Amino acid sequence: MKKMKAALVGAGNRGCVYADYCFDEPNELEIVAVVEPNEIRREEAKKRYGLPETACFENLDGFLREKIVCDFVINATMDEQHYETAKAIMEAGYDMLLEKPITANKDELLDLQRIAKERNLKVNVCHVLRYTPYYKRIKEIINSGKIGKILTIEMNEHVGIAHFLDSFVRGKWNSEARCGSSFLLQKSCHDMDLLCWLNNETTPARVFSFGKRAWFIKENAPEGATEYCHDCPHNATCLYSAQKVHLELDAMPFQTWMEMGKPIDEITKEEKAEWLKTSHYGLCAYNSGGDIVDRQTVNVEFANGSTCVFTMVGGICRAGRYLHVCGTKGEIEGNIEDEKFVLRIFDRSEGKFDYDEEVIDVSNEIRDTTDYGGHGGGDYAIMYELVRYLNGDNSSISITGIDDSINGHLVVYAADKSRKTGVVYNIGD
Ligand SMILES: NC(=O)c1ccc[n+]([C@@H]2O[C@H](COP(=O)([O-])OP(=O)(O)OC[C@H]3O[C@@H](n4cnc5c(N)ncnc54)[C@H](O)[C@@H]3O)[C@@H](O)[C@H]2O)c1
Repeated sequence: MKKMKAALVGAGNRGCVYADYCFDEPNELEIVAVVEPNEIRREEAKKRYGLPETACFENLDGFLREKIVCDFVINATMDEQHYETAKAIMEAGYDMLLEKPITANKDELLDLQRIAKERNLKVNVCHVLRYTPYYKRIKEIINSGKIGKILTIEMNEHVGIAHFLDSFVRGKWNSEARCGSSFLLQKSCHDMDLLCWLNNETTPARVFSFGKRAWFIKENAPEGATEYCHDCPHNATCLYSAQKVHLELDAMPFQTWMEMGKPIDEITKEEKAEWLKTSHYGLCAYNSGGDIVDRQTVNVEFANGSTCVFTMVGGICRAGRYLHVCGTKGEIEGNIEDEKFVLRIFDRSEGKFDYDEEVIDVSNEIRDTTDYGGHGGGDYAIMYELVRYLNGDNSSISITGIDDSINGHLVVYAADKSRKTGVVYNIGD
């Protein structure tokens, strides 16, 4: 197998997760260039991947002008930069691993699909959950026909309290206007992708959604709550205290302290405490200026009549993704956090009228080499499968081109429109 050379565009949290595969499997991947406007991050990436100055670029134009030779580009810029950067990278003829969401806009989505097709490029979207042993095994069972024809799919995503506060209440995805993504697009586009991928014998036809931000709003703040948590009288008891979640527990350091203008491991606790007094990460959770929904449901009807109900909620006790697929011959039920699921199959053999139940445990198959998260092994597995795919191995059921990521995004766009208008949308419209 040929060792792949990749350029990293956007050396932030996610970009480094993918690029770090070169340390896990040094015979399979080498990072040969980095494009990163933030000087601290560019310097860190330069050191981390042992790059010469001539391979480090402040912007994409500089990189493209140099015509750097590599097998693919990892595009891990923020949501609102995906379209412009992806277009430029593809027009320069590079294959690409592109972070999700592809873009927030249907015209842009279809434009990127067109460019990939016209130029015959391999463009793979970072739907990392597809690559987890958990969902991959579920997909294999569905494809095998064991549970028959899919009748319904129930799914939910419960976002844990620290994650929700750090990303969607106070953090960089708390406002649709600022980050360019709704909650469904930023976070649950994984779920809409899984839904369309697991049920890709058919296509989504009609979509309806409810949802709003109705808990993390100023009307719900306890009496006497202050603008920032550091001097709030409710600090000791409030579930959402920034002093507790961000400073004391430091639940997501790679995000919380990113804007402090210093390498994170050099920032002292005193500096963090001082910064929280004026930063959006120190604001009262009920009055943090965000508008991203804190609950949403999505109903999808597929062309063959199968249906899906999806629920997302943020800020709850136990994070996880639950799934229940009911088919004509059996069903699959589980939560990815358990690293196992149950398969039930009807049994009419020898006069019986019963079902068999089998627990399928995938915990031994998960490889997680990241410091935080790892997405049930998906962060490692996507790179493992990608380098093989780029080497000509087409055996993965998880890897598909950009075409297979379109439907999930169309469901997201339709659901968000429906949430805002109260109208049922036809995907074809
Ligand atoms: N696949 C997943 O499960 C998953 C999980 C979290 C986030 N994401 C997505 O990953 C993407 C990156 O998120 P992140 O948390 O790593 O963000 P980040 O802010 O840590 O990293 C983005 C980096 O891109 C750089 N950048 C900005 N403009 C650029 C440009 N024109 N060219 C090159 N670099 C540029 C920024 O300076 C920053 O360092 C987002 O789209 C996010 O939605 C995906």
